[in-house]
Amino acid sequence: MSLPPPTFARLHLGAAYYPEHWPEERWPEDIRLMRKARLTVARLAEFAWSTLEPTEGEFHFDWLDRAISALASAGIVSVLGTPTAAPPAWLVQQNPDLLAVDESGHRVQFGNRCHYCVNSPEFHAATRRIVGAMAERFGSTPHVIGWQLDNEYNRVCYCDRCRGLFQRYLAEKFGSLDALNRHWSTRYWSQTYSGWEQIPIPIGPHNPGLMLEFKHFVTESYRKFQRLQLDALRSHLRPGVWITHNFMGWFNGFDHYVLTRDLDLASWDWYVGTGHHDYLTSGAKHDLTHGFKRRNFWLIETQPGNVNWSSTNNTLNKGEARAMAWHAVAHGADAVLYWQWRSALGGQEQYHGALVDQSGQPRPFYEEVQQLGRDFAVASPLLSSSAVVSDVALLNSYDSRWSIQWQRHHRDFDYVAHFNHYYRPLAVRNIAADVISTDAPLEGYKLVIAPALLVLNGSRATRLRDFVERGGHLVLTIRCGMKDEYNALLPSRQPGPLADVAGVEVEEYYALLEPIPVAGEWFAGTSRLWAERLKVRDEASTQVIAHYGVANGWLDDQPAVTVHPHGEGRVYFVGSYLDDASQQSLLDRIVATARIEPVMETPVGVEARKRVNAEGVEVLIVINHTRAKQFVRLPWPAREHLSGQSVEGKLKLASYGVAVLTPLT
Ligand code: GAL
Repeated sequence: MSLPPPTFARLHLGAAYYPEHWPEERWPEDIRLMRKARLTVARLAEFAWSTLEPTEGEFHFDWLDRAISALASAGIVSVLGTPTAAPPAWLVQQNPDLLAVDESGHRVQFGNRCHYCVNSPEFHAATRRIVGAMAERFGSTPHVIGWQLDNEYNRVCYCDRCRGLFQRYLAEKFGSLDALNRHWSTRYWSQTYSGWEQIPIPIGPHNPGLMLEFKHFVTESYRKFQRLQLDALRSHLRPGVWITHNFMGWFNGFDHYVLTRDLDLASWDWYVGTGHHDYLTSGAKHDLTHGFKRRNFWLIETQPGNVNWSSTNNTLNKGEARAMAWHAVAHGADAVLYWQWRSALGGQEQYHGALVDQSGQPRPFYEEVQQLGRDFAVASPLLSSSAVVSDVALLNSYDSRWSIQWQRHHRDFDYVAHFNHYYRPLAVRNIAADVISTDAPLEGYKLVIAPALLVLNGSRATRLRDFVERGGHLVLTIRCGMKDEYNALLPSRQPGPLADVAGVEVEEYYALLEPIPVAGEWFAGTSRLWAERLKVRDEASTQVIAHYGVANGWLDDQPAVTVHPHGEGRVYFVGSYLDDASQQSLLDRIVATARIEPVMETPVGVEARKRVNAEGVEVLIVINHTRAKQFVRLPWPAREHLSGQSVEGKLKLASYGVAVLTPLT
């Protein structure tokens, strides 16, 4: 259970707006059109550094002030972006080594984005100056409700300065070279370090311990850069004004749990690119963002029909984007903002979708946003200050993901695909799941699933053990409990410190060329990519749910999936990567045993989610993600708020139709 941040009194609809691209005489028409579509928020000033500070220390803020006021007079609030993702040409000219160095040792070119070295002191100074000046000028401006720092942190720099700082970071973390050498097993291939300055930044495959620490260093570098902006901003902000950053779903350049700790709000940018989204896995990306702060989030950028950067930039079907917006809200988004309002005539994104075209007229897609504007206006009072509620948590671990990505062992083993293999069978049954950090508290959950939780330290193991002792059901999977937090193998068999609560240990793991048979009372199917041979430690109480069939000899007739009671709870160990039907059967049984109820039963393609508002009213959001019309049987007579009608029995959903329902009292 989580609560929304207190500032969000409404559901917002908006767009990224770059008034600096257009003559000021045009602004009233833009704002009229925004208002007509019932946009309530605009995101401004991101990337506008060269307009805000055309030369060092010379600030031009009046235009932004006027834009904020003009929007405000139409009832549209603003979110300001700090423009640091676009350090201007004059700044780069003054400080050429502000440019990041790529893996091959070349300085990146000016003229794209995020070209900075995140550790450059000159860049830090310039950031402090521009963000500080903006904070002074706009921190107390009414109608500026929030700030977004930078844009989609993503660059990794390999310059000598970063290398030196990495070495210093290691010295602080390990205290001594002896400790570092021990944790990284550096006697292996004579990697022993006798001076901090000998340690390289890893390029390509390297010592697993070094690779993991470099990721932690990148995370720390961004955290420091972000803190510098937070420090420049926070003291100037009116109470209630929040600060966020726009993350990118499953992007894994750094540990998002560390970076979001310092922010007030998590938000993300959802783009489909080519094709169409699959609601059974895109929900996991919303839930991931929700899990960063364990509360409602903003979908601060999303696709207005099409993008410009994918292989084929097809447009979403008519109605699809509205269903996607509701999908986000159903998973805890308090705002949906399109990127962008209108494409600039020049620049790299001329072909990107927008609400208004190059001629200044609404594009066909604008109609859909208008409909969403009507939807949000109706639903906002019902959904403001409401939260999503889940009985299930899926644990996400960046350390485990990185470690597996570097040593997949099977080329097709992908951490996120495996994660979704557990998410999808829940999503298809409309069972809400939180996606949370492995280090988050587990109170309130009935079921915790730890897909490929490879890195298991003592405190994580203790928390999981306590959860089970108190009656929780825990699912451990293949690749669980194999490594310590330095990316070294644990000197025990999987699942390491949880072997006793699991009642089993892994005798061997096998990368598979072909699927092999796995069967038991609950399903008969196959394991693909991977199989672990389980040894039952506690014969008396461990139930073998499934065995392998005839496979490579080593696995034949060996236990594949087990369950073991511990305390008041139980621990499953899934040693297979089951085919989809078997996985569904397995999870259906696990969920039923944990007494977890779906929000509602719906046909595949139709999603039902619930948000509970401050008055305790349960608001059901039902979304048809298909082009065909669909029928859903309602458990109770309801009021459908978007149409204003009452419905009983069968609810009809048009192609990409949405219903927002509360029980009729
Ligand atoms: C995002 C970025 C936006 C815009 C968008 C286009 O990654 O934050 O500024 O470039 O992509 O799809």
